[in-house]
Amino acid sequence: MKKNDFGVVIMAAGKGTRLKSKRPKVLHEIGGQALLLHVIAAAKTIVPAEKIDCVVGHEADRVMAAISNTGVGFVLQAEQRGTGQAIQMVKAWFALEDKAAPKNLMVLSGDVPLIRTETLKALMMLHVREHAKMTILTAVPEDATGYGRVIRSEGAAVAGIVEQKDLTPEQRGVREINSGIYCFDTKALFAKIDLLSDENEGGEFYLTDVAGLLVADGERVVAMAAESADEVLGANTIAEMMHLDAAMRKATAKRLMAQGVTIFRPETCVIDAQVKVGTDTVIEPYVQLLGATKIGEDCRVRSYSVVQNSMLANGVLVRNGCVLDEAKVGVGAMLGPYAHLRPGSEIGEGAHVGNFVETKKTRMGRGSKANHLSYLGDAEIGEGVNIGAGAITCNYDGVHKHATKIGDGVFVGSDSTLVAPLTIGEGAYIAAGSCITENVPEGALALGRSRQTTKPGWVSARKANKAKS
Ligand code: UD1
Ligand code: CA
Repeated sequence: MKKNDFGVVIMAAGKGTRLKSKRPKVLHEIGGQALLLHVIAAAKTIVPAEKIDCVVGHEADRVMAAISNTGVGFVLQAEQRGTGQAIQMVKAWFALEDKAAPKNLMVLSGDVPLIRTETLKALMMLHVREHAKMTILTAVPEDATGYGRVIRSEGAAVAGIVEQKDLTPEQRGVREINSGIYCFDTKALFAKIDLLSDENEGGEFYLTDVAGLLVADGERVVAMAAESADEVLGANTIAEMMHLDAAMRKATAKRLMAQGVTIFRPETCVIDAQVKVGTDTVIEPYVQLLGATKIGEDCRVRSYSVVQNSMLANGVLVRNGCVLDEAKVGVGAMLGPYAHLRPGSEIGEGAHVGNFVETKKTRMGRGSKANHLSYLGDAEIGEGVNIGAGAITCNYDGVHKHATKIGDGVFVGSDSTLVAPLTIGEGAYIAAGSCITENVPEGALALGRSRQTTKPGWVSARKANKAKS
C-alpha cells in the first residue's frame, strides 16, 4: 500500500433541516449546479471517479439519480444520525464488499461546495508529510457561529474539535473553525469510528470526536488553515447558499473577463459556472447565461436576455430581452429584440429573427429573415427565405404536430397562415394575408384569400340615403 494511496468519501446523506426545503440539501444549486456536483467535480480533480464514494440517505434515490452519470459509488446511511455514523457505514460497507480500503481517506462534506483542488492537494501533502492519523482543513472566517471549533495544542497539532452546541464559554472565543474536510489514515479512523458516543447536545454521532479519541491514544492529529475562509464556507441555510452562489458567480465572471470577455456590471448578471464565452464578446448588464451555454467570439448579448443551454457561433447579436432555450445560432445571426427561441431552434448563418418572433423545432437556413411577429414551429426553412410580418405556421391540429417545409428563396407575404403539413417549393411567393392549406410548387404564386371588392362612391351614396329617410 502506497503512502499516497487516497480514496474519497463525500458525506451527503443529511436532510438539511435548517434549509426548510423539500429538496435534499445537497441537490440545492449554486452557480447553476447542485452542491454535491460541485464537490464531486473537486474530488475528481484529485482521484478518479471509481475511488470516490458518496454517502447517501435522505431521499437517497433522488440524490443518486441526480449524480448517476458522474461514475462515483454509493454507500447507504439509512437513518441519519450524524457525520460519525456516515463514516461507520463506510467502514461497514468496505467490510461487506470485502474491499481493500485505501491507505488514506479524504472525507468531504457535500455542503461545502467552493473547495478548490489546490487546497485539497495541499491538505493531502501535509497529511502524508506529517505522518498524521487525521489532518483537518480549517479556516478563520469573520463569523465562526454554527461551526465546530478546532482546539489546538501546539503548532500544527490539535487537541480536538468541539461542536458549536457543546462549546464551553471560554471555547466560544476560538475563531478557527473545522471545515468538515479531512484526511484520515483509514486504519486509525476505522479503529475509532465505532467508539463514538451520541451523548452530546446534538444527540448525534460526531465524526469530529474522532480527533479527541486519536489524541487520547497519543496519535498525531494536525490541522491546516485554508488560505481564504470563503472556499470552506458551508451552506446550511438558503441565505448562506445565496451567499455562496454570489461568490461562485463572481468568480465565474472574473474568469471569463480574464479570458477577454467584456461583462458590464457583472454583479447584475447571472452566469452559471459551466458557461463558456469566447474572446471579445460583450455581455451587457442584467443578462443570464445558464446551463451548458456556449457563446462564440465577437458576440454581443444585450440587456435582459436569458440564454439557457444554447450554442451561439461567432459574431452573433442578441438584442434586448431575448429568451433562448436549447437553441443553436449560426455565425453573424441577429436576434430580437424580444425573440423567443425554444428548444430545437437552429438559426443559420446571418439569419435574422426579429421582434416577437417565436421559433420551436425550426431550422432556418442561411440569410433567411423573420423580422416581425411570427410563430414558426416544426418548420424547415431554406436559405434566403423572407417570412413577412405576422406569418404563422399552424403546426398543431389539436392532436398532432405537423411539419412545414419552405424551400430556398421563398417569399411569404405578411400575415399568412401556413396550415401544416405543407411544402412550399423553391422561390415560390405567398401573397400577403393568405391562408395556405395546399402545397405550393416551385416558382408559383399562391393566393389564399377572398378577392377584394371596391365600391366607388359608396360613402357619399350612403350619406345621401340617410339624409332622405
Ligand atoms: C459539520 C461539522 C462541523 C463543521 C461543519 C463545517 C460534525 C459533527 N460537525 O457540522 O464541525 O464546522 O460541518 O461545514 O461533523 N451528513 C451525512 N449523514 C448524517 C449527517 C450529515 O451524510 O447523518 C452529511 C450532510 O449531508 C452534510 C455533511 O454531512 O453534507 C455535514 O453535515 P451537517 O449536518 O451540515 O454538519 P454541520 O452541522 O454543518
Ligand atoms: Ca453543514
